[in-house]
Amino acid sequence: MLSTEQKQHYIKNGYLVLGELFSAELMDKLQKAAGQIVEQFDPDSTRAVFSTQDQSQTRDNYFLGSGDKVRCFFEEEAFDNNGQLKQAKSLSINKIGHALHVLEPEFKAFSHNQTVTHIAFDLGLVKPQIHQSMYIFKQPKIGGMIRWHQDASYFYTDPISVITFWFAVEDATIHNGCLQVLASNETYPLIEQFKRYTDDSTELVKLSTKPWPQDEHAHALEVKKGTLVVFNGLLPHFSAANLSDKSRHAFTLHLTCATSEYALENWLQAKASPLY
Ligand code: FE2
Repeated sequence: MLSTEQKQHYIKNGYLVLGELFSAELMDKLQKAAGQIVEQFDPDSTRAVFSTQDQSQTRDNYFLGSGDKVRCFFEEEAFDNNGQLKQAKSLSINKIGHALHVLEPEFKAFSHNQTVTHIAFDLGLVKPQIHQSMYIFKQPKIGGMIRWHQDASYFYTDPISVITFWFAVEDATIHNGCLQVLASNETYPLIEQFKRYTDDSTELVKLSTKPWPQDEHAHALEVKKGTLVVFNGLLPHFSAANLSDKSRHAFTLHLTCATSEYALENWLQAKASPLY
C-alpha cells in the first residue's frame, strides 16, 4: 500500500499526507451521516462543551462517559450569556465522539476498511486496533483552537504506539484551521500525560519541561477533501481557531498496537476494535 519513500517520510517526520486518498462521494456520505446524528441530538439534553484549555470542563462526566457512546459536544462559543444557542444547532457542535466506529454503520464500515488496515500495518502496528473515533466540525467563525499537544498523552501505551488517522471530510486550509504539525524532524519526548483516576478525577501530568514549539515552527497541512493524514503519538500538533466562513470537517481515528500495554490511567477504557 505505502511506498518505501512514504514509509521513510513517516519515520523521519512523524507524519504522512496521502492526498485525496478517498473519493469526495465517500466524504459526502460521512458528512451526511454526521449531520443526521446532530439532527437527532436534543441540545437541551446537555450543555457539555469540549475544551482543551480548561481542564475542569473535560472532567465532566458527559465527556468521561463517552468512550463507548456517540455524544455531541458543543463549541465553547455556541451559547450566549443567557445560555441560549447563538446559531443553529447544526452550526454549534464542536464534535461527535467517541465510538462512531462501533455504533454508527457508515462510520463503522469506513473505519474498518482495507485501506486503513493496510496503512496501519505498513506504519508498524502489528495488531492494529481502534480506540476512538471523532467527527470534528471546526465550525465557521466559532471553531475553537486546539493547543499544541501530542496524542500519546491521551492514548498512553508501553511502548508508545498510538497513530492518528485524520481524514479531511472537507478542504482544510490555513484560513479554516487546518492541522499544523512540528516542521522539524526533531523527536519530542512525551511532554504530558492525561490521567483518569479510579474516582474519575483527572490530571494532566507534566512529564517533561521541554516547551512546546513556537507556532511559527509549525507546518500547516493544507489538504483537499478526501486526504488522509497519519501521524505518530509524539508529533506535536495544533490547529488555530476557524475565523473563516467555511467549516473544516474532519473524521479521526486513534489506533494503537494490541501488543503494547494500554495504560489503565487512560481516560478512555472502552474495548478496542481490532483491525486484524
Ligand atoms: Fe491531536
